[in-house]
Amino acid sequence: MSDTARPFPSGFLFGAATAAYQIEGAAFEDGRTASIWDTFSREPGAVINADNGDVACDHYHRFRDDVALMKDLGLDTYRFSVSWARVRPDGGAVNQKGLDFYKRLVDELHGAGILPWLTLYHWDLPQALQDRGGWTVRETSDLFTEYALSVHDALGDRVQNWTTLNEPWCSSFLSYTGGIHAPGHFSITEGVLAAHHLLLGHGQVVRELRARDASLDLGITLNLTVADPVDPSDAGDLDAARRIDGQFNRWFLDPIFRGQYPADIVADIRAVDAGAIDALDAATLPGDLETIAQPLQALGVNYYHGEFVGAAPDPHPPVPGDAPTDRATGSPWPAGVDIHWHERGLPRTNMGWEVQPEGLTRLLQRVWTEYAQPAGTVLYVTENGAAYDDELVVEDGVGRVHDTERVAFLRGHLGAIADAAESGVDVRGYFYWSLLDNFEWAWGYAKRFGIVRVDYDTQERTAKDSALEYRRVIAARAIDV
Ligand code: NOJ
Repeated sequence: MSDTARPFPSGFLFGAATAAYQIEGAAFEDGRTASIWDTFSREPGAVINADNGDVACDHYHRFRDDVALMKDLGLDTYRFSVSWARVRPDGGAVNQKGLDFYKRLVDELHGAGILPWLTLYHWDLPQALQDRGGWTVRETSDLFTEYALSVHDALGDRVQNWTTLNEPWCSSFLSYTGGIHAPGHFSITEGVLAAHHLLLGHGQVVRELRARDASLDLGITLNLTVADPVDPSDAGDLDAARRIDGQFNRWFLDPIFRGQYPADIVADIRAVDAGAIDALDAATLPGDLETIAQPLQALGVNYYHGEFVGAAPDPHPPVPGDAPTDRATGSPWPAGVDIHWHERGLPRTNMGWEVQPEGLTRLLQRVWTEYAQPAGTVLYVTENGAAYDDELVVEDGVGRVHDTERVAFLRGHLGAIADAAESGVDVRGYFYWSLLDNFEWAWGYAKRFGIVRVDYDTQERTAKDSALEYRRVIAARAIDV
């Protein structure tokens, strides 16, 4: 190790993440039935190029090769999700063939010395349950709990790390209020109810799994951000930042860690749509908030970029980047009036997202101090990554992808985690999003996040320069400065 290397804390886990619908393909094989993403991706204008996950990275058939790739990169851990529609088609009876796939995957990971990090819900609700109201109805929380227990029946002896939900902000507000993700609805009431039932399902699953096996590592993954006001001395700008922080971060952190919804955001939403808060009050039964606030071992932080916001529009608005399709005009902010994003000159990824590694340091410090540490929960960065226009070049007969910007992105964010750890934050792992290029939801295959390139015609995988850099960092367990 060089003199300038910054070591990561001992035991720090280096990993990569994926999700079932984004990589598996085999959409209707071995008994799997439709999820809301199979339906939504077939709606005209919902996904760029009308792409869908029917084949994706064909990981269902190629998982052994993909695990070999992970081993070659030296990954300590692999974060993947289980498809509810595979394990309980239509949300009904258990499908053994579906469970068997995940057993094979987990066994392959163990054989390669890679720790499986399992997520139960990464947005692919069985369509049959959406037909009965989806996350807006309480029944879905109960069926989610039953589904989770059937996954635990099959994998409880071989999986230690369980994540209930991935980014419930996306599967509630982005999906039921903003219309950008499946099922593509535009209702504040539905967004608020979906968030509540997702959180309730989370709490129920944690309680049940904990009762079955007190030694499990249980957690949830949230998409969190840092909201900076354009002018910190301007009350309107501060208020815009407060709203973003409240609706993105605190709407989920507060019930999970404090057993209450943030009063300021409840009031904001009530001012815009009183019926939505009445519906939330009616849906919140005695004991729900206690159920949601279960003790957790792990909080997964997904961080991509911060927000630079003000009360007035930017005279030089940011490069448009966030709207995948014409349909994506809905606002996922239930009380988003007076929020305007501003340009501050940071580099941007191919999603139009700012590259702001120091935001991750601040976010980890804040979440650690205000939420995780007091609760005895430790932090993991369960997603962080960037899409760029990668180009495959053939050099001496070998395929290469010189994704210099992603290398810098990866190094910058690993450095930001090292900064947070040095300042006393207990952060124990990092999962790059994503192992593979894959189906980027409403953006289809147009955006490439992988450290491994996927040729969707041939399914050929090519490790990009970022993968080779990650392998070096993992081997050194340190990052050169
Ligand atoms: C968050 C989600 O969990 C993941 O599914 C998505 O592909 C990445 N962010 C990139 O947008």
